[in-house]
Amino acid sequence: MEEEELKLNIGAMGSEDLPHVLAIEATSFSLPWTREMFEGELGLRAISRNLVAKVPCSPSGKGTSPELEVAGYICTWLLEQELHINNLAVASGFRRKGVGRQLLRAALEMARREGVRSAVLEVRASNLAAQRLYQSFGFRVAGVRRNYYSRPREDALIMRLDFS
Ligand SMILES: CC(C)(COP(=O)(O)OP(=O)(O)OC[C@H]1O[C@@H](n2cnc3c(N)ncnc32)[C@H](O)[C@@H]1OP(=O)(O)O)[C@@H](O)C(=O)NCCC(=O)NCCS
Repeated sequence: MEEEELKLNIGAMGSEDLPHVLAIEATSFSLPWTREMFEGELGLRAISRNLVAKVPCSPSGKGTSPELEVAGYICTWLLEQELHINNLAVASGFRRKGVGRQLLRAALEMARREGVRSAVLEVRASNLAAQRLYQSFGFRVAGVRRNYYSRPREDALIMRLDFS
């Protein structure tokens, strides 16, 4: 029997989300994006589409609606007819609960609605967790960028998905 998915509230990233996003970013990458980089994305309205996944956190008081906690995010660009996935991270306490899968699905659905035909991304050659996630959506390795990453220096795999 399939496990029920964690109930997430997935919506557009706003500047109010940035403190949480930056905290997740810092623990997810050796070269994390800076606040300026995320702010740049939020300002790039023509092409940038950024989603955050939130979950209710423990109630803060009686009778109040629950606060929402950022569990993960995905940053993309819609360029012509191609979705570029530029960033995806899930808070360590929420990993392996389907948050990454739901975020990727939401970004791909959003792209399809906007008439996009394909999606592309780069991933560290050693990042098997992310590669498995992408493969489960049909992404396939389309090329290698040698020594693309630093800290540590490493190749990037280019992964691509053509929408049918
Ligand atoms: C990669 C990442 C976004 C995955 O997010 P997640 O919410 O933990 O992933 P999900 O729970 O949705 O997993 C979906 C599928 O991806 C694969 N997967 C995810 N994490 C995995 C792991 N640690 N090992 C092996 N496979 C993994 C599995 O196929 C999984 O399906 P399953 O749980 O049914 O086996 C998360 O590990 C992360 O934030 N890593 C650090 C940042 C990063 O590497 N980002 C990607 C940059 S390209």
